[in-house]
Amino acid sequence: MTKTNQTLGEFIIGHQESFKYSSGELSRLINSIRLAAKVVNHEVNKAGLVDIVGEVGETNVQGEDQKKLDVYANEKFIQTLINREIVCGIASEENDNYITIQGHNEKHNNKYVVLMDPLDGSSNIDVNVSVGTIFSIYRRVTPIGQPVEMEDFLQPGNQQVAAGYIIYGTSTMLVYSTGHGVNGFTLNPAIGTYYLSHPNMKIPEEGQIYSINEGNYVHFPQGVKDYIKYCQLEDEENGKTPYTARYIGSLVSDFHRNLIKGGIYIYPKSSKANNGKLRLLYECNPMAFLAEQAGGKASNGFHRILDIKPSELHERVPFFCGSTKMVEKAEKMMAEAE
Ligand code: AHG
Ligand code: MN
Ligand code: MN
Ligand code: MN
Repeated sequence: MTKTNQTLGEFIIGHQESFKYSSGELSRLINSIRLAAKVVNHEVNKAGLVDIVGEVGETNVQGEDQKKLDVYANEKFIQTLINREIVCGIASEENDNYITIQGHNEKHNNKYVVLMDPLDGSSNIDVNVSVGTIFSIYRRVTPIGQPVEMEDFLQPGNQQVAAGYIIYGTSTMLVYSTGHGVNGFTLNPAIGTYYLSHPNMKIPEEGQIYSINEGNYVHFPQGVKDYIKYCQLEDEENGKTPYTARYIGSLVSDFHRNLIKGGIYIYPKSSKANNGKLRLLYECNPMAFLAEQAGGKASNGFHRILDIKPSELHERVPFFCGSTKMVEKAEKMMAEAE
C-alpha cells in the first residue's frame, strides 16, 4: 500500500472541486465528522479505564439496550454538527425521530442531511473489540429556507453525495467516498492528524472470506443455507478450496476486513426477522455506496441496495455485500432456491 504524507485536511481541500456540488459546505461537513470522530476515539480508547462501559438502562427505537458509548457517540456527533451549523437535519440509529437544525440566523439555509450509526458493534465494546461509526450524507430535496422534512431522509442510497465510516481498531481509520473512489486515512494519535494511508481502495473481485452469523443457520432461507454450503465446499475440478469464516459482529470491522482482503458479508432475513437486522439508512446504504465505489457490490439478495426507496427511517433490509463475484454467486443461489 502506498504511503503518503498527505493529511486528510490537505486531501479535502485538494479534492473540493471534484465534489458534485462544489460549495465548500461538504468539505466543512466532513471536517466536522473528522473532529467528532477524534473525540469519540479518545473515549473509546480509554473505555476500560473510565465508567463508560456498560448499559444506560434505556432501550432505543430499535428495541436494543443502549450502551453508554452509544449515547456518548450519538451526542458527540450531533453536538459537533449542530455547533458548526453545517447541516439542516440529522437522523440516527439511536433517535426515534430526525432532528431539524435551523442553522445560521434560524434560516434553515444548510443543504445537507446526515444519517448515522454513531457506534456500530457496540456490544463488542465491553470486550475490547473494534467498533465503528457509519455516516451517510444527502443533499436535501425540499427547498432551502424551511425546516427539513421526512422526504429529505427517505432518499434512495443512489442519491448519497458522500458516505463513510470510522473504525476504532488497532489503528483508528476514517474511510470515505464522495463518489470518486474510496480513500482511507489513519489517525496518528500522538498528533491527532489523519494521514492518507489507503488511497483509492479497491475490493478484490473474488475473495476467500465469508462473514455471517452462522448461529442463526436454522432460521436462514434455503438460498443462504445453500450458499454457506458452497462456501465450505472443496471442489478440486474448479480449483475451489473452502473459504475462511470470519465474523466479528461489528459491521464496520467485518466490512473493512473484507474490503481490504476480499470477501462477502451477509446478514440475511430469517424466520425470526423478515428483513434481517441491519438498518437500510444508517448501515446498509453507506456501506453499499462504499462497496460500489471500491468496485464491489451490495444487494438484498435479489436487487441492488442503493435502488431501494426507503419507506421509514429505521427500516431494516437483508444485506449481501462485498466482492462482486461472491455477491453475484450468492444472488444466483438465492434466485435458484425461490
Ligand atoms: P449496532 O451496534 O450499531 O446496533 O449494530 C450491530 C449490528 C452490526 O454491527 C453487526 O454486524 C450486527 O449487528 C451483529 O448482529 P448479530 O449479533 O445478530 O450477528
Ligand atoms: Mn444498536
Ligand atoms: Mn450498527
Ligand atoms: Mn449503533
